[in-house]
Amino acid sequence: MKLSGKTITVGVTGGIAAYKACELVSLLKKAGADVHVVMTQHATQFVAPLSFEALSGNRAVTDMFDTDHEWEIGHISLAKKSDLFVVAPATANIVGKLACGIADDFLSTTLMATKAPVVLAPAMNTGMLTSAAYTANEATLRARGYIFAESASGRLACGDDGKGRMAEPQEILKLIESVLAVRKDYAGKRVLVTAGGTREPIDPVRFIGNRSSGKMGAAIAAAAYERGAEVIYVATPDAVKPNAAVKTVTVSTTAEMYRAVLEETENADIVIKAAAPADYAPEAVAENKIKSGEITLKLKKNPDIAAAVGKIKGERKLVIFSAETENLKENATRKLKKKGADMVVANNVLTPGAGFSTDTNIAAIITEKSFVQLDKMTKRELADVILDEIIKL
Ligand SMILES: Cc1cc2nc3c(=O)[nH]c(=O)nc-3n(C[C@H](O)[C@H](O)[C@H](O)COP(=O)(O)O)c2cc1C
Repeated sequence: MKLSGKTITVGVTGGIAAYKACELVSLLKKAGADVHVVMTQHATQFVAPLSFEALSGNRAVTDMFDTDHEWEIGHISLAKKSDLFVVAPATANIVGKLACGIADDFLSTTLMATKAPVVLAPAMNTGMLTSAAYTANEATLRARGYIFAESASGRLACGDDGKGRMAEPQEILKLIESVLAVRKDYAGKRVLVTAGGTREPIDPVRFIGNRSSGKMGAAIAAAAYERGAEVIYVATPDAVKPNAAVKTVTVSTTAEMYRAVLEETENADIVIKAAAPADYAPEAVAENKIKSGEITLKLKKNPDIAAAVGKIKGERKLVIFSAETENLKENATRKLKKKGADMVVANNVLTPGAGFSTDTNIAAIITEKSFVQLDKMTKRELADVILDEIIKL
């Protein structure tokens, strides 16, 4: 049985598709998992907890302050003992709460506390699914490493036709199995990942920055963690943070990132530079806000972090990113040699679906011996491909 020895917590929220969660619990049990069910108060309007108790063989938790169960502090111990969480169906409400860090019931609190992978199976009316709020919340969660079981199109309970039906329990089961099948090929490895765009102050209120969101770095950090690595995350304050237990070092300027990376490289086996540190900084930072009018900024070159790591790396592997707008292969190959890197992940940031802030990327992986052009994929998928290629090095 594929899931024997695994503890899986199924979160059930208040949507029509809650009845389908019964089938999912049953499938997970048959696959050998120890299944626990946590229901929101609204979910209990749709299906009785007793159904889940009978199917899972465990008590279904519905109340944050119900102490009549085996765990000491329920949400924390369940968060720790679960190998995976799946929320099916996931309402617009739970997705929003997770994205914003609202922990006002047992399920949202437990989900916030866990470092285990979380699979979300959204189900809702098409209007809700395509709303700006939901779209932004899903993107935030994807960037943090949450995994989505895509909802399907068809006739919805509300009578509308469109996307929003919960993925079929069989499909969700397959996804869970693939997530838990992740190999621990990074166990014992220490991976340093940088993320985000640095800020170079001009005066107390202004800075020179760039469009890097930190999504790629966060995806790599989450993937490396899931594959067993100890992860050090050197990131700017605005960079997306991975949903994983990583050591985070927050830096703002390129000079700060330089110092942090050189210091942390000592503790790393692999350095992956997904951040976009500014190449230049104002030569002088004004003490007070510069008054409006024409100003001329004199810029100085910032330290080259990749080249510095390239010089001291020894046996470590160095992976750098190259955001190009033309002559990708030539420029990236030159960069590989110049910085002493082992791999360059290059993308043309002018191509739709690639580069800054998007959830997808279209990258090429360049090493001394090979050039592989990849198809468009999510940053999370690309993170795993990059980790696969590093192992081959
Ligand atoms: C009959 C009915 C069906 C509903 N179906 C859904 C649904 O499929 N998806 C959804 O996001 N909300 C749905 N809702 C609204 C949620 O129940 C509501 O947003 C609630 O606050 C969710 O709480 P929870 O996420 O804590 O369970 C439905 C409400 C009713 C009354």
